Amino acid sequence: MSSKAKFQAIRGTRDLLPPETALWNRVEQTAHEVFRTFGFGEIRPPIFEPTELFARSIGLDTDIVAKEMFSFEDYEPSTVFEYRSALVIWHEPRDVQGPPGPLGTGALAKFQPFAALLSLFCLAGRQAFDNGLIPRTPENDSLLNELVGERDIFLSSIQSRNDRENCADVDRLKERIRRLQLGDELTLRPEATASVCRAYIEHSMQQMPQPVKLYYMGAMFRRERPQKGRYRQFYQIGAEVLGGSDAPAIDAEVIELVMTFFARLGLESTELSINSIGHAADNCRRGYVELLRAELTKVKDQLGADSQRRIETNPLRVLDSKLEHEQGIIAKLPKIADHLCDECKTHYAQLKRQLDLRGVKYVENWRLVRGLDYYMRTTFEITARGLGSQNAVCGGGRYDGLVELLGGPPTKGIGFAIGEDRLILSLQEGGKGSVVEGRDVYIAWLGENAYATAIRAAQNLRKAGVSVELPPSEQKFGKALERASKLGARFALILGDNEVSSGEWTLKTLADGTQAKFAEAALLEYLKQKKV
Ligand code: HAM
Repeated sequence: MSSKAKFQAIRGTRDLLPPETALWNRVEQTAHEVFRTFGFGEIRPPIFEPTELFARSIGLDTDIVAKEMFSFEDYEPSTVFEYRSALVIWHEPRDVQGPPGPLGTGALAKFQPFAALLSLFCLAGRQAFDNGLIPRTPENDSLLNELVGERDIFLSSIQSRNDRENCADVDRLKERIRRLQLGDELTLRPEATASVCRAYIEHSMQQMPQPVKLYYMGAMFRRERPQKGRYRQFYQIGAEVLGGSDAPAIDAEVIELVMTFFARLGLESTELSINSIGHAADNCRRGYVELLRAELTKVKDQLGADSQRRIETNPLRVLDSKLEHEQGIIAKLPKIADHLCDECKTHYAQLKRQLDLRGVKYVENWRLVRGLDYYMRTTFEITARGLGSQNAVCGGGRYDGLVELLGGPPTKGIGFAIGEDRLILSLQEGGKGSVVEGRDVYIAWLGENAYATAIRAAQNLRKAGVSVELPPSEQKFGKALERASKLGARFALILGDNEVSSGEWTLKTLADGTQAKFAEAALLEYLKQKKV
């Protein structure tokens, strides 16, 4: 980037600015209040975690893990790292004399330094491996061994090759050198359920009164194609219930919590879809998936490339397809509800009863399978208006067994995450996004005496929670009032020498231009009452 080029927010990320951030704050404040009334406590997990945590939880075949994670290697500066950096930027010197080729010295002089550096790298790498300073993985072990052999072959063949061939060898070796893992693979969190489960295990939360009810809010990262309502850095507000019980009442209460939150915000035209995807057993989901696979294989030729691939990797995800020409085919496929085991059937029936008891309206959608592997039984999604194709504002479901998969005790779990960006968009589209803009009071002061009084007035008003703009330099009253209007102030407090000496301050209401005089204490009282 040239020094004059302007920096811009990275594609798929954006600045949230005032006054919109006031709406974000209102949403988050309401979440804190509503979640507390349901007995949830806030958890703030780190923003990055080992890649393996997400790979294992979300599943290798999912879009998130296969394509969308922002991952990086985390390592301490070390000699191996320095040698690696030197090797990957190495290029042959151009000014070495002597003919390259069988008996010339030029080729050796040019390329031997690379081989020598590679020897040092292999030595330092082996030492770091033995001392556990780089990950002791089988891949690192064999790569280090192989590199020693490849260096020997390279060294012995330098003289018999021309520059182009030697350069190609160097490039190939560089590619291999880059593969040595120097540190842990970390990933910016694409979601937070895995982190909450990791924290549940790490802090032995199974010893706390069960279930443990936690909520979170914050940035998540996925390398998705940016569009309206879809970003690479986006924000979620989510909640998880972890513990020993999988009572359908817990599922229903978690759903009721989201709906209550949405209602409190005035989010309209939401639609809750629910489904049960059973559990991983031959007489339940596994059996259904095999049946689905067999049925899909029969119509394979009529499906798109993604669905064809998913017949092998994850046939359930075919049900998610939005492709127009696949809709008719999918509609004729067997439905999971007809293939659930008795326990899952009962659980689903109970969930619906529990939702009815709470007056929560829903529609059933047998195709709602969700894009993450950890779900079982209950799945749900909520759509809202004004969002175009990205209209899912919340997704969630049950994930019994995930804690165990991550090395913890057998634990039941259910939760959801709301896409805060989409929630805000939908509120704005529905006319519920208005926020109070501007200051309460603009202090128009003139003269040194008045300035000291203005500072004191600003301090007292702010202490009482009134938002105050105190201009840093003197302005003519006309100019000051103009600026007050521009900033959207509701009142202008006029302080000149007359006001200071009489103790009677003038307050102008900017909307209608009326003025009234107040003593200091009375003015404070009046503004406290008027405060928005
Ligand atoms: P999810 O369906 O992947 O589920 O994401 C939940 C919500 O996050 C979506 O419904 C959407 O509103 C929002 N979202 C996802 N990706 C983006 C994006 N690129 N840009 C804007 N918003 C987005 C989960 O993340 C699960 N962890 C939910 C969960 C919690 N299940 C159980 N507990």
